Amino acid sequence: MNSSFNNDDNTALMPSPAALPASEASLKRTDEIIRLLQVNTMPYRRMIRYYRCAIMEIETKFRVLDEEQSLNFDYNPIETIKTRIKSPESIYRKIRKKGLPISIENVENSISDIAGVRVICSFVDDIYRLADSFLKQDDITLIAVKDYIQNPKPSGYRSLHLIVSVPIFLQNEKRNMKVEVQLRTIAMDFWASLEHKIRYKKNLPEEETALLAADLFVCAEQSAALDLKMQDVKNRLQAILGTGGDG
Ligand code: GTP
Ligand code: MG
Repeated sequence: MNSSFNNDDNTALMPSPAALPASEASLKRTDEIIRLLQVNTMPYRRMIRYYRCAIMEIETKFRVLDEEQSLNFDYNPIETIKTRIKSPESIYRKIRKKGLPISIENVENSISDIAGVRVICSFVDDIYRLADSFLKQDDITLIAVKDYIQNPKPSGYRSLHLIVSVPIFLQNEKRNMKVEVQLRTIAMDFWASLEHKIRYKKNLPEEETALLAADLFVCAEQSAALDLKMQDVKNRLQAILGTGGDG
């Protein structure tokens, strides 16, 4: 049920060193980022470990909610959970974009999606029900909500994003870690994966890109209509059978 995702744009980090073959240039770029971020030092590695622990905490919370629904209603609202730690390349690019000096403090304070958990559900209602139960938990602090289901992005992108803080309990201390949780339906995830592939395809002619984007927008609308229709069918079925799922 678990896999990882990486929807971060790792391209266009720094200008390629001139006169190097592409692969060699990209190797040099990666080396340079590893050096600047001090990826191999204890503080960086410790930070990443802490984010991994935070991911485990969040993932478990969703698995527990899924298990409970399964027990009570013989129904699993969660289809898949995917997790990822932001790559050094993406972290570096984000810090640069913000114009901040490279430091562990700046990474931790200014980036809220180093730890990412993506919860994929069958139905839109499941998303809001799960988000609600999750946010009610007393160790979860909500930092921000971005509801791209109610307010889709101009691209057509839909998902519910929650930036939360969760404590991790270590040997001698408690640390609050930020995690980005993205909740979406299977249809929204299917769309976002394809859109992401196209968005970051290099060397696509501008005209083609615009045409694909327009088609993708139509796909997003159709897929949202499908989500609504499926939800409606499920609700009607539940009404007929007299089964719940609403907790
Ligand atoms: P990032 O710098 O990309 O993290 O953007 P942000 O901090 O403004 O947050 P936002 O809520 O816009 O996006 C966070 C994440 O949502 C991205 O890293 C993607 O995983 C996903 N996302 C947002 N917009 C899109 C989109 O148009 N297409 C796809 N495929 N994914 C998107
Ligand atoms: Mg992001």
